[in-house]
Amino acid sequence: MLIVGAMRAGAADRQARLKNLPPQSWGMVLTMSWDIGNFGAVASKDGGYVALVVGAGSGIGRSTALYLASNGASVICADRDTPAVQKVADEIAGQKGRAMGLGLDVTDDAGTRAAVAEAQAKFGQIHALVNCAGITGRTNIKGHDVIMADFDRVYQINLRGALVLSQAVLPAMLKQGYGRILHVASIAGKEGNAGMTAYSATKAGLIGLVKSLAKDYPESGVTINALAPAVVRTPLVDALPDATVKYMTDKIPMHRCGELSEVASMIAWIISPACSFTTGFTFDLTGGRATY
Ligand SMILES: NC(=O)c1ccc[n+]([C@@H]2O[C@H](COP(=O)([O-])OP(=O)(O)OC[C@H]3O[C@@H](n4cnc5c(N)ncnc54)[C@H](O)[C@@H]3O)[C@@H](O)[C@H]2O)c1
Repeated sequence: MLIVGAMRAGAADRQARLKNLPPQSWGMVLTMSWDIGNFGAVASKDGGYVALVVGAGSGIGRSTALYLASNGASVICADRDTPAVQKVADEIAGQKGRAMGLGLDVTDDAGTRAAVAEAQAKFGQIHALVNCAGITGRTNIKGHDVIMADFDRVYQINLRGALVLSQAVLPAMLKQGYGRILHVASIAGKEGNAGMTAYSATKAGLIGLVKSLAKDYPESGVTINALAPAVVRTPLVDALPDATVKYMTDKIPMHRCGELSEVASMIAWIISPACSFTTGFTFDLTGGRATY
């Protein structure tokens, strides 16, 4: 590995650590210096970095919750599927991590706010919100056939729910002068996917929401970003027609799906204190499909 400018602060520290370790450990050290080291730098009342992961019962949210916990964060695992999220919290606890399962439905404003307040009281602070709650709604359907009730349902969860969640965590984050909010959007929000009008429109709206919210609090210590993955094999994608998955995968220059580990590790960095000079941005995770 060539590290250009390696003797500058940070890189020098990393290189010093690498010197004492066999090469097979280097990747781990680099990950740790982003994740554990920086999570540890911000302590809550009870110690540790507290992340609220919504949609943690399945797919990207579940993997992210497990990954954050394995890197030392305390994780509030939230989802409308309460048994699923309790299982994830139990799994973390079984590995000596700190977690709680929290049932909430982002379409229920008051219930969501109350649940987040309950978790906040229990953990003392919430440093980061990762919002992975999302649905595709009906797909493989042309715009003129979109059923308005389906569109409304997708909007309620993918876009309105993101604002409700942001509102639930923002006051305390602003008060503590630190916070990381990350909403999982989609490549569909940047480029539009055929047959996915409701999904694409609400994810585009989410990207706009993040841009606007971030500009409301630029000097607060709270960053608000989005992530736009292409196709990642999860139950959400498994439920799509093969034609829709092929349509999306064919557009990826790397010609493969993203791995859950690739999503989780990117999210971990975005919500770490190390990612401090980026707000209002939509991070790309598309195997080269979107180069902007
Ligand atoms: N998997 C992909 O290829 C892909 C690509 C781009 C973006 N995304 C986005 O990533 C996020 C996670 O997707 P996934 O593939 O892990 O999906 P998933 O279906 O595996 O998980 C989504 C989770 O969100 C929860 N959820 C849904 N509605 C909710 C509500 N009203 N309140 C609380 N929780 C709710 C579900 O119970 C589920 O556990 C979604 O926003 C999705 O749009 C996924």
